[in-house]
This record gives sequence, structure tokens and C-alpha cells, in this order.
Amino acid sequence: MRVLTAEERAFVQAQRVAHLSTSSAEGVPAVVPVCFVYHDDCFYSPLDEKPKSVDVMNLRRVRNIADNPKVALVVDRYTEDWEELGYLTVRGAASLVVPGEAEHLAAVAALRQKYSQYRTMSIHERPLIRIVPAKASRWGTLLPEERRSLDLPALMRGRRSVRQYTPQPVLPEHVEAILEAGRWAPSPHGRQPWRFVVLTREERKRRLADAMAEGWTRHLEMDNQSSEIIVIRLSKGRQRLIDAPVAVILCLYLADLDRYPDAARQEAEATMAIQSLGAAAQNMLLTAHSLGLDGGWMCAPLFCPAVVCEALGLNPDLIPHALLTFGYAAADPKRRDRLTVEELTELYD
Ligand SMILES: Cc1cc2nc3c(=O)[nH]c(=O)nc-3n(C[C@H](O)[C@H](O)[C@H](O)COP(=O)(O)O)c2cc1C
Repeated sequence: MRVLTAEERAFVQAQRVAHLSTSSAEGVPAVVPVCFVYHDDCFYSPLDEKPKSVDVMNLRRVRNIADNPKVALVVDRYTEDWEELGYLTVRGAASLVVPGEAEHLAAVAALRQKYSQYRTMSIHERPLIRIVPAKASRWGTLLPEERRSLDLPALMRGRRSVRQYTPQPVLPEHVEAILEAGRWAPSPHGRQPWRFVVLTREERKRRLADAMAEGWTRHLEMDNQSSEIIVIRLSKGRQRLIDAPVAVILCLYLADLDRYPDAARQEAEATMAIQSLGAAAQNMLLTAHSLGLDGGWMCAPLFCPAVVCEALGLNPDLIPHALLTFGYAAADPKRRDRLTVEELTELYD
């Protein structure tokens, strides 16, 4: 059973530093600040002590863990607004994970996603400390205000497009909540002219990414892009989809809409369906954000809907339009500025 709740997991994911408390066989305590990642329900902390001449096996925390594996880890957030203070204390058993094990590889990859500094450090050659949580206790406010309340303006301002995720999986109940939010979007005649295609398995995401890459290559060639640029852009786009823990393709489904004898009204009917697909997308992105998740939008399926249907074996009545990705941001992306209300408003009479 999981020790940390979804809220607690979101909280620890968002923090950069924790304090690890160990004690010797004689009960002498020691506390150090540590970088860490929470991955597959465990905490991992690297042994990146400087100067490098220190044998990591001689570090006090490593010797203490060998003598007494019981440890505590405090993850806290300080802000000047004391209403927002919060911390989580996790007690558990610590041990070392040595290089060569699959678990070590995965944890090093997760640490490097979280801290860019580790990408050039040799943490892959050293053991990691693994802490398996046994008990967690919390105090104060764990999620920032915009994420814990139905403060819609704050939620809307806090959401931003994320294009790189950590490998932390998304809970199935969170995927359900995101789809549920899409369901409640406004739609023409209330017909809900959209269907959602959910991809979590890497093999499927890879198949889709490869299929879309072919079409995209052709488009970039038509735009006279150099082959180097094409390679870079394709590789970034592919990886972005493959690395996202969850991808949801929003497809138009026009079969239930009204039929008109003239093309103009039929086109307007389809446009209304597209508009409501956008509303479903925004419901999903905001819900993800409120759950402590991040999301991104990729327009790629719009440019090759038939390719997407074929790659995934979808019902040909579906017209793939938007691809939303969900997970936990690997870095804090820049927030885009917005035009002011005055600039956006043409007439206010
Ligand atoms: C219809 C639509 C298509 C988009 N397609 C892409 C895309 O293909 N790739 C991408 O990185 N972002 C895409 N975005 C995200 C926008 O770039 C992003 O929303 C915008 O820059 C504002 O940034 P923000 O979402 O972080 O506030 C798309 C957004 C919309 C609404």
C-alpha cells in the first residue's frame, strides 16, 4: 500500500531539498540537507559529496544507515506567507542501491531529469541512498493555494504548457479525473462531438510518434528546412511524446451533429464541434493543474489525422485534433506573457 497520499506526492515532487536524519548504532543523530527524487514510491538521494577524494562509503550518513537503517526525511516549504507553510516527515528504512541494478539506472535518470547539474556528474558510478517510506506525517499546507482550492483565477494563471516531464507516472484516478473534466465541457446541442484516446504504454506512444514523424518530415521538407534542423525538431517532438507519462488525443466525432443541405451551415456545425473540443481541452488542463499535475498541448495530430488513426487502429469516424500530454514537469517552464484586457478588447460600450 502507498504511504504517501496524492497530495503528499505532489508536494514532495515540487520540492528541491530535503533533510535526512540518520543515527549511529549508539543513537548519535546526524542531519544533512539532501537532493532527492521521489520515484516509484521510494526516495532516492545521490552520494555526490565533494571533495571527490572522500570515499562515499565513509560518509557519516552511509555508515549510520549500515548500522541503523531507520531514518527520517523532512521535506518542507517556507514562504513569508505563514498560511502557506508546510512540511512532510517521512520515516522509513534506508539502504544503498548500487550501480548496475535497473533500479539504480532508473533513479539516476529521474535525478538527472529533476536536477540538470547531475547530468554532468558521475552519480551513475556511485551508490544511491534509497528510502522506503513506512510512515508519513504532515503539518500545514502542502499544495500551493492555486492548486488546493477552487480559486479559478489563480488556477488559470498558474497553468502553463509543459514540454518535458519526469518519469513519475500519473495515478489512474488522476487520469480518470482529467477525462471526467473533459466530459463536462460545453458542446453544440450538448452532443459532445469528441472522443478521447488515452495512451500510457511506451510502445504505443512510440508507434504514434514514429508515424507522425514521417508526415512531419515531409512538411518540414516542403518548408525547405535543412536536414539538420529537421533531425533536431523531429527528435525533440518524438521524445516529448514518448516521455510524457500520459498522452490524450482529443478527436472530433461529428456523427451525432445536425445535418444541413448546404455546405456553409455544415461547416459551421463542424466549427462549433472544434470550438467545444478546445473547451474540453481547457477543462482537462485546468483539472490536471489542480491535481498537482502539469500538461502540454501538441497540435501535431491535426496535420496528419489519417496517420494517427492508422497508427493506433482507431475508428475512422474519429478525426484526431489535439494531443494533450500530462505528467510532472521536469523543469519550471517560462510563463508566457499575455496581452492586456485593453489590448484584447475591441469594444466595451
Ligand atoms: C490549439 C493549440 C495548439 C498548440 N500546439 C502546440 C504545439 O504543437 N506545440 C507546443 O509546444 N505548444 C503548443 N500549444 C501551446 C501554446 O504554445 C501555449 O499555450 C502558448 O504558448 C501559451 O503558453 P502557456 O500555455 O504556457 O500559457 C498549443 C496551444 C493551442 C491552444
